[in-house]
Amino acid sequence: MLVVIHPNKEVGSNQAARIVADQVHRKPDSVLGLSTGNTPLATYTELIRMHRDDGLDFSNVTTFNLDEYYGLPREHPQSFYAQIHKNFLDHVNVRPDRTHIPDGGSKDIAMACFDYEAAIRDADGIDLQILGIGRTGHIGFNEPTSSLASRTRLKTLSDETINDNSKITGDIPQVAITMGIGTILEAKQILLLAFGEAKAKAVAKAIEGPISSSCSASALQMHRDVRFILDEEAATELRHRSYYDRVIEQTTKYAPELLGIAND
Ligand code: F6R
Repeated sequence: MLVVIHPNKEVGSNQAARIVADQVHRKPDSVLGLSTGNTPLATYTELIRMHRDDGLDFSNVTTFNLDEYYGLPREHPQSFYAQIHKNFLDHVNVRPDRTHIPDGGSKDIAMACFDYEAAIRDADGIDLQILGIGRTGHIGFNEPTSSLASRTRLKTLSDETINDNSKITGDIPQVAITMGIGTILEAKQILLLAFGEAKAKAVAKAIEGPISSSCSASALQMHRDVRFILDEEAATELRHRSYYDRVIEQTTKYAPELLGIAND
């Protein structure tokens, strides 16, 4: 687990974009796991800029979104389908037949979830998963008490999540289809982004708390290649802050290759 604390959200977002770009350069047919919400927006903006100005090519990339509200038609402006198109997909050259978003309009929910898992498997799994974190510690919409082995399924949203997300987009459904924690943990590499003080408690629980279904993100402690990209505000509740800084300092000195481009 690598905890990287950046001076602010802009620097963290740009670094996340460089990690994604590096993945796409190394493996042009990468499978990317995408998150919606506010947190990754600046990263998507930077990726769009890299596509436009530096020729970053997404033509062989496949994408899977983490989740989608259930009961909203795709064309609804609050759907994650509409949001990820508006904020990212419509501005880069990912082929439409290679983008996947859970079907929030499906009549047969179990089949839609089964098909989503099968599509991820058929793509040989997710190479790099981008995550945000909710104040409840959720990743995807895996609210507290979600099984740490869960797969893509229908999930009821917590009060905190309904309040937080309604503030951004207006009234939202109370249920969503989300990749499970077990699904997320199968991604080869995971980047969790968290910015701002409102995320500080959830971040501390995820990184330093016990592994528990009370904080879904704590399950990431079991993943062998996860990087937390934080700003100073999101890092305020961490007890081992000076240790994380020393890890970066010493790794930079002795094994910079382990940091990849996180070190530039
Ligand atoms: C979104 C998602 C959620 C968000 C989380 C944080 O696809 O799966 O887990 O990442 O709710 O949302 P923001 O970034 O809006 O604070």
